[in-house]
Amino acid sequence: MDYLETQLKKLAKETFLSLKKAKGKEELENFRITYLGRKGALTSILRRVKDLPLEERKISGKRANDLKRQLEESLKVRLSQLGKKREVEKFDITLPGIKPESGHLHPITLITNEIREIFQELGFEMVAGPEIETEYYNFEALNFPPEHPARDAFDSFYLAPDTLLRSHTSPVQIRVMERRKPPLRIITVGRCYRRDAIDASHFPVFHQIEGLMVGEGISFSHLKGVLTYFLQKIFSPDIRIRFLPSYFPFTEPSAEVSISCIFCKGVGCSSCGRSGWIEILGAGMVNPIVLRKVKYDPEKFTGFAFGMGIERIAMLKYKISDIRLFWENDLRFLEQF
Ligand code: PHE
Repeated sequence: MDYLETQLKKLAKETFLSLKKAKGKEELENFRITYLGRKGALTSILRRVKDLPLEERKISGKRANDLKRQLEESLKVRLSQLGKKREVEKFDITLPGIKPESGHLHPITLITNEIREIFQELGFEMVAGPEIETEYYNFEALNFPPEHPARDAFDSFYLAPDTLLRSHTSPVQIRVMERRKPPLRIITVGRCYRRDAIDASHFPVFHQIEGLMVGEGISFSHLKGVLTYFLQKIFSPDIRIRFLPSYFPFTEPSAEVSISCIFCKGVGCSSCGRSGWIEILGAGMVNPIVLRKVKYDPEKFTGFAFGMGIERIAMLKYKISDIRLFWENDLRFLEQF
């Protein structure tokens, strides 16, 4: 009965492979039915064993029964493993879920949005200008004559002889006035670049916000009103504001604007150098020379401008002691905003 022997061998191989492949309860049950069920392949071989001559019946019968036992045993093991695996995978659906991490805005973006909203309430329109400027827009049109010592104060990054990374946002004033006729009320926000040595309050890249209002009858008191409204809104309604005479080539008169120290309320502390005041921005009336450069009639139109560092405002408002933190992208810092 070679024939049955061969079949048994083939079946042993086949069952070994298909048991290995069978996954899950259902597939294992299918396996059982296919081979061990009432009409299963092995069952039918076993049924035929009794018709064999005695000698062969002994050998093949034992083989077939061994295989049957083996398969039943393996199946049992596989089924029990299945149960165990389930146990491990079981989870408690009543446990609180894990919130997916979501990104959020950088503190500089947050403060910029806040500043922009305040000026938009006052009717200022947001405009943009290029970060790569010519000497004309960065200096000359703003009344920094060639070789003027004030150019040294803005130790700039030159990309080519007449091309530099803007050292302030004031060139946007010129670009806007060249394009438009007064009255106008604009603000612009953007990156500026200066060759400053890096320390807790200096970084070669920083952000400025610049404002410009030009029209008929615009006076210094409008500037005071707008800046007072803005500074009290961004810091606190009870701060006081101080204007001191200053100098910028593009404004005349010019002012350096301070707020009463937000930490000591003007009494004097280490944050304000014991003076009670914190300098916060530069401002002034647009110099008639500048107005003439953009072909505005200074007899008819006057205007004011102001500019301030956004990092400085953010540092004061959020009590950040080091400007470098804005650029390090350390999540432990960023996640606090
Ligand atoms: N551009 C000046 C600066 O960077 C600030 C300023 C802007 C002053 C507008 C007056 C008017 O320091």
